[in-house]
Amino acid sequence: MTKIELSRSKLWYSVKLRNWTLAGYQLGQVKAGFKDVMRFYPMSPSDLANTDKIAAVIEKSIKAKDDKRFEESFAEMTTECNNCHKAAGRPFLQVGAPKVPNPYGDKMFEPETPR
Ligand code: HEC
Repeated sequence: MTKIELSRSKLWYSVKLRNWTLAGYQLGQVKAGFKDVMRFYPMSPSDLANTDKIAAVIEKSIKAKDDKRFEESFAEMTTECNNCHKAAGRPFLQVGAPKVPNPYGDKMFEPETPR
């Protein structure tokens, strides 16, 4: 879960800095994270059917470089995260959109730039 949280927040910052290639990669990490969640905390399969749909919308928004659609679908995913936590009897595990300042000082989110 901590890994999915990190990837999801890196996804957010990549899009904020319009590094769409990195965003696509991080979304892949989030999707892999969901598979792990199911392995460790098996719940009803319908829980992740919706998550898959939302991930597909996020993917489209990244391909289209559409910030607004990205933010909307990211918010939907956040709701899914929190719903599952509620269903798992842990309603206090609330996640939201990451906030600035970016906690990953050692990670470059800007697209390739000459230094
Ligand atoms: C299929 C259900 C499910 C989904 C979907 C899910 N989680 Fe979780 N998550 C859990 C469970 C269960 C725990 C509690 C694990 C434990 O207590 O060992 C948890 C715990 C967490 C924690 C606390 C970990 C810690 O040790 O501090 C974070 C952060 C978290 N999830 C983030 C997310 C994010 C972000 C998403 C969505 C991108 C997400 N989760 C989606 C089931 C889920």
